[in-house]
This record gives sequence, C-alpha cells and structure tokens, in this order.
Amino acid sequence: MHKIGIIGAMKEEIAPLQQKAVTTQTQTFLGLTFYKAMLYDKEVILVVSGIGKVNAALCTQVLIDRFGVDCIINVGVAGAVYQKLSIGDIVISEDAVQHDMDTSVFGDPIGIIPRMKESYFKADQHLVALAKSCGESLTAKARIFTGRIASGDQFISTAEGKQKIWDTVQGYCAEMEGAAIAHACYLNDIPFVIIRSISDDAEEKANISYEKFVEIAAKNSGELLEKMLQQL
Ligand code: ADE
Repeated sequence: MHKIGIIGAMKEEIAPLQQKAVTTQTQTFLGLTFYKAMLYDKEVILVVSGIGKVNAALCTQVLIDRFGVDCIINVGVAGAVYQKLSIGDIVISEDAVQHDMDTSVFGDPIGIIPRMKESYFKADQHLVALAKSCGESLTAKARIFTGRIASGDQFISTAEGKQKIWDTVQGYCAEMEGAAIAHACYLNDIPFVIIRSISDDAEEKANISYEKFVEIAAKNSGELLEKMLQQL
C-alpha cells in the first residue's frame, strides 16, 4: 500500500495518530483539512470528515479523487449492539450497512438500497486479516471482534433502537459514518476497513457513557491502526 487514507469523523478519533504523524503538507477541500503525513514510514492522508454519512462519503471521494489513496481505513468509536461487547472492545468490519436505509413500504428489507447490486459492503479481506492479527498484540485491555458495522444518521440511545439494528441488519455496533465510507469505496473499487472501539451501550444513558469513554475508545482503535501501519 503506497498511500493510505485515514478518516476519523471527529478530531478525538484521530488525535492519538495525529500526535505521532509528521505532517508534510495540508490541503483544504470542502472545508475539510487533509493532512499529508508520514506515520511509521507510510505515506498517509489524515482527515476529520465531520459527523454523518454525507460528510463521510464526500470526504472519502476527495481522498480518492484528489489524493489517489490506495486504501481507506476508518477509525473511531461506536455504540455496542452485539450483547457481548463491552466498553473499549474493538469491532473490525467484516462488512458495513446503512441501518437507516428503509424502503420497506415497497417490500425491501431494511438496509437494502433499492436498485443497487450491493447494500452490505464487504471490507477488504487482507486489511481485515491484518487488523485481526494486530489485535492479538494490543496492549489495551480490549477484546477484538469481527462483525458487521451498522451506520445511520442517528445517535442510538434506546434499547428499542439498538434491538431494531440487531433484528434488521445484525450490526455488531452502531456508528454514523462507516457504511457511507464503505459505499463510496465500493463504487470506486477501493479497499477499506473500519476499526471501531466501543464508547457506550447505545441505550438510554449512551450519551453520558459516550462522553466518559470516547477518549479511551478512540485510543484503543488508534492503537490498533498504529500496529497495522507498521505492517502494511
Ligand atoms: N458513536 C458512538 N456511540 C454511538 C451511538 N450510540 N450511536 C451512533 N453512533 C455512535
């Protein structure tokens, strides 16, 4: 891999990486700052996309068109949907789906994008395997899971909302960007992987848990990405 695009939705999510990166140039597109940098001898483009699927998809397209990245890694935090997940645990994307895509009135299952060949976007198997093997040597007290990432333009904070995601699309965790990045990567034929660490349980007190654990969760996903960069 020659040029690696790294997307975090919020500055907290890429802060641990940015501290270690040596930035050589910055460029602004769509009001987003793209940091060309060296990190563990790899050329990376670091960017904070902003929150939500549209911001994430547009940011991904800029990384592909303007920077010619060979692959994209999305790091950050997520709410737990799969019961076995605890705060700090990491989910590596097997694939990603938009849990708020709903044309069920026409008989489509939730998550299905009408008239598209794919709606569950598969992560690159090489990047997934690398993330898994790097997960084994993590110093953080985080368990590593591989599963589906469910994204939507909603902060999930009810037991019912969380249950719906499990029942409809079987997402391991809920966040707000991954599947949009995956969608854009699929259309451009660019390999991707999403690494998310759990900041909350996506239930009624999720906002409080999120505030408390966002930093530690971001640190965990960042540490895994650092290990991957050393081996890419
Ligand atoms: N990111 C972190 N926690 C989340 C949640 N509960 N819902 C959506 N995105 C999140």
